[in-house]
Amino acid sequence: MSKRHTITAALPYTNGPIHIGHMAGVYVPADIYARYLRIKGEEVLFICGSDEHGVAISMKAKKDGITPKEVIDKYHNIIDKAFNDFGISFDYYGRTSSKVHHETAQEFFKAIHDKDGFETQTTEQLYDAKEDQFLADRYVVGTCPKCQHPEAYGDQCESCGSSLNANDLINPKSAISGETPSLKTTTHWYLPLDRYEAFLRSWILEGHQKDWKPNVLGQVKSWLDDGLKPRAVTRDLSWGIPVPVDGGENKVLYVWFDAPIGYISATKEWAAKEGKDWAPYWQDENTELVHFIGKDNIVFHCIIFPAVLKAMGSYILPKNVPANEFLNLEGQKLSTSKNWAVWLHEYLEDFPDKQDVLRYVLTANAPETKDNDFTWHDFQTRNNSELVAIFGNFINRVMVLMKKYYESVVPEPNEYSSVDTETLETLAAAPLKIGQLIEQYKFRAACQEMIQLARLGNKYLADEEPWKLIKTNPERVATIMHTAMQIAAGLAVLSEPFLPHTAKKLRDMLQLDKAVCWDSLKNEIPVKGNHTLGNASLLFEKIEDDAIAAQLEKLTS
Ligand code: MF3
Ligand code: ZN
Repeated sequence: MSKRHTITAALPYTNGPIHIGHMAGVYVPADIYARYLRIKGEEVLFICGSDEHGVAISMKAKKDGITPKEVIDKYHNIIDKAFNDFGISFDYYGRTSSKVHHETAQEFFKAIHDKDGFETQTTEQLYDAKEDQFLADRYVVGTCPKCQHPEAYGDQCESCGSSLNANDLINPKSAISGETPSLKTTTHWYLPLDRYEAFLRSWILEGHQKDWKPNVLGQVKSWLDDGLKPRAVTRDLSWGIPVPVDGGENKVLYVWFDAPIGYISATKEWAAKEGKDWAPYWQDENTELVHFIGKDNIVFHCIIFPAVLKAMGSYILPKNVPANEFLNLEGQKLSTSKNWAVWLHEYLEDFPDKQDVLRYVLTANAPETKDNDFTWHDFQTRNNSELVAIFGNFINRVMVLMKKYYESVVPEPNEYSSVDTETLETLAAAPLKIGQLIEQYKFRAACQEMIQLARLGNKYLADEEPWKLIKTNPERVATIMHTAMQIAAGLAVLSEPFLPHTAKKLRDMLQLDKAVCWDSLKNEIPVKGNHTLGNASLLFEKIEDDAIAAQLEKLTS
């Protein structure tokens, strides 16, 4: 029954560290999905890596007066470490500067080239005479022809999210010298996207009308309705993967041609390390491929990369591309260049054991259907009044009472009341309910259901008041505590995708048997009478005002 899943998370550019916007939009949801499927016993390959080519990298090198290689090494290490310390459970984290990736991307280019899958065009392109450099992508800025934003890049407008052609910018300026560029002739290879229009329309707009997110379908539709044009997949640059065919001298592959192939090269590297075959993860129709991305990546994952895969022939297409909207910070757009961000590696320095708090806040407030705002105040409130006051408080009460009444040995239940039965039924229904939400990429709602269970546990104890009955009706208290114990154990299992560090701690505290899992909760209580619990410790602690003030101070300083 178990299926194979290839799960990808957008490869971050190594021109800077990653921040909470990336985490909320891509890596936390992808990690929830991957962890959930693993717990369900599915075969999962969760892939990511560093995106190390492109103008963003060379610009950063120029700005910092170091080589592109120094830039990518620096940020690759920072990002890789931050993901690790945060607990994102990639099976493999690759790099697009690797040998395997260069070879794989070149193989793709050559294969499509050899089947006449490209067109060449000789056109006039923007050229910075002062720097002797063609200007494409981020090397040129100007006014967006679609929304009039004055600082659009040659490849994309970050204001309206449109993907652009440098030549369409109004009032273009070189991002290197600030000069107004001239035009110069050059020849490039183009992927004729127009040949894929009918296929994309029927595959996505007809085939996935019901199961893809409306924001994704909307962007795809608008692209297709505008009419697809051939798109250059090579550039006149020195930093990148050399174009492996005649006439390709001094040219490299366009970063958006090579980067998604990085998912495949990372799979190859992982498979070689594990002694496995990489191919089924990308070529077997029974594999479910899902790409986690932010909304600015939609066109690349829903139009361009699928066209490349289709051109190659033997590859599967994604089952879904659950792109998220953006997260803002304290009411303003996150910005790497303006340093308006909460950097993941800095968060981990300031809150080294609070990975799950950030995961929780980013999930509870995830930008799933619209842009959302992260505020430090909300972070504090969600920690103090949800994680501490609901989840932590419930577990703590159960542990304390168990110790006090039963020396931490779970009592056998006596006769169940209707409230007990209902409570146990709610628990038994939770795995399916939460699981279905996760399978529909509704991580916010899924996480709410999980916390709802802790709320239910608190209410159950508050209503049943075992502390008032312990002298007069110990039989009833045994049943109450036995029942409350099941909710606590259920939480240890069901919180795992969302709060993996907490779940692990809780499992240890409860000494839960390995056999207790997502699916076993549906038809079997997780903890039997006579089971001995481990030592209690606090799962969450209150975050005080001064810690929040310090973060706000750091932002504006
Ligand atoms: N580096 C890109 C970004 O940060 C994402 C690349 S995703 C990939 O927007 F598919 F190309 F790898
Ligand atoms: Zn725009």
